[in-house]
Amino acid sequence: MCEKKVGVIGLGKYLPENRLTNADLEKIVDTTDEWITARTGIKERRIARDDEATSDMAVKAAKKALENANLKPEDVDLIIIATITPDMFFPSTACVVQNKLGIKNIPAFDISVACSGFIYGFAIANQFIKSGTYKHVLVIAAEKMSSVTDWKDRGTCVLMGDGAGAAILGEVKEGGILSVYLGADGSKGDLLNMPAGGSRLPASISTVEGRLHFLKMQGNELFRHAVKIMAEAAFKAAEPLGLKGDDITLVIPHQANVRILNAVAKRMGIDPRKKLYLNIDKYGNMSAASSAVALAEAVEEGRVKKGDIILLDAFGAGLTWGAILIKW
Ligand code: ACO
Repeated sequence: MCEKKVGVIGLGKYLPENRLTNADLEKIVDTTDEWITARTGIKERRIARDDEATSDMAVKAAKKALENANLKPEDVDLIIIATITPDMFFPSTACVVQNKLGIKNIPAFDISVACSGFIYGFAIANQFIKSGTYKHVLVIAAEKMSSVTDWKDRGTCVLMGDGAGAAILGEVKEGGILSVYLGADGSKGDLLNMPAGGSRLPASISTVEGRLHFLKMQGNELFRHAVKIMAEAAFKAAEPLGLKGDDITLVIPHQANVRILNAVAKRMGIDPRKKLYLNIDKYGNMSAASSAVALAEAVEEGRVKKGDIILLDAFGAGLTWGAILIKW
C-alpha cells in the first residue's frame, strides 16, 4: 500500500497590536537602535496585552488556520501546542485552547521544545496522520515571551517578542513532508533557561528577588552552536533525499538573529537574499512561534508556490533542533 502524504492544509497567525520599537527600548535599558539592528536585525517586536495569555493568541491563530483550511473546529482530531510560556503549568495550554475552540474529547497536549517546538509538532503530527490514527492535526506554536523577559537585562530583553502561528496538517495528494530530522543535547541546557518556578526551585521570595523567573541566556555560546547546528540539521534533512542547497526554493528558519541566519545560509551554500525568509525585523525572536508565523507569512506573501521545496529549520533551548523539508 502506498504511504500517505502529509502536508499543510491551512495556516494562520496572530500578532498582538502593541509594537515595541528599538527606540522604546532605548528608554528602558542602556542600548541603542544601532546596536540592536547591527547585532540582531531586529527593529521592533510585538508585546501582548497584560490580559492576553498564550492561549488567547493561540486560539486566534488556530481560528485563522481552520478558516484557511476550510475546516470547522470539530474536524480537528488532535491539538499540539508548542510553547515554553504556557498559560500555567497545568492544565496544558492545549487543553485550554481545545475548550476555547469548543471542541470536546479529542486529545490535546503541550510540548516544551523552545524554539524548535513548531518543527517537533510537525514531526509528531506527521506520524499520527501517516499511521492513519488521525486525519487533521492542529499544530500551534504560541509564546508570550514578554512574560519571562527580564526588562532590566539588555542582553535578552531586546531579542524577544510575542505571537502565535498555527498549521493544520492532513493528507495531501501531492508533495507534503519529504523528510524530518530532530535532535537534542541536554548537556547544554544551562545556555538558555528559566531557573525558577519548577520543582527544582519553586517560587519563593528569594527566587523572585533573584530575578530567577526570567529567561537567562549565554548569547555568545548559543550563537556558535546555533550556526553549526542549524546548518547541520538542514544537511541531515536534505541528505537522505539527495538534495542540495540549490534544490531548496526557500529556507524558513527560526528567527533568532539575522547574523546567525546569514551564517547558516553561507554554510548551506545558498544566497540569503533569494532563499532565506526573514521577518525578524518586525517581530524579534518569538521562540516556537517564530517559525510558525514565518511560514504563514511567507505563504501569505506568495513566497511559496506549488511544487516549491521549503525547509523549516530551528534551534533553541534544551538544546533542541529540527529541520523539515516540505514539497508545497
Ligand atoms: N545594547 C548595547 N550593548 C549590549 C546589549 C544591548 N542590548 N546587549 C549586550 N551588549 C553589550 C555587552 O554587554 C557587551 O559589552 P562588553 O563588550 O562591554 O562586555 C557587548 O555588547 C557584546 O556583547 P555580546 O554578548 O558579545 O554580543 P553579541 O554580538 O554576541 O550579541 C546576542 C548578543 C545578540 C544575544 C547574540 O549573542 C545572539 O543572538 N545569540 C544567540 C541567541 C539565540 O540564538 N538564542 C537561542 C534561541 S532563543 C530560544 O530558544 C528561546
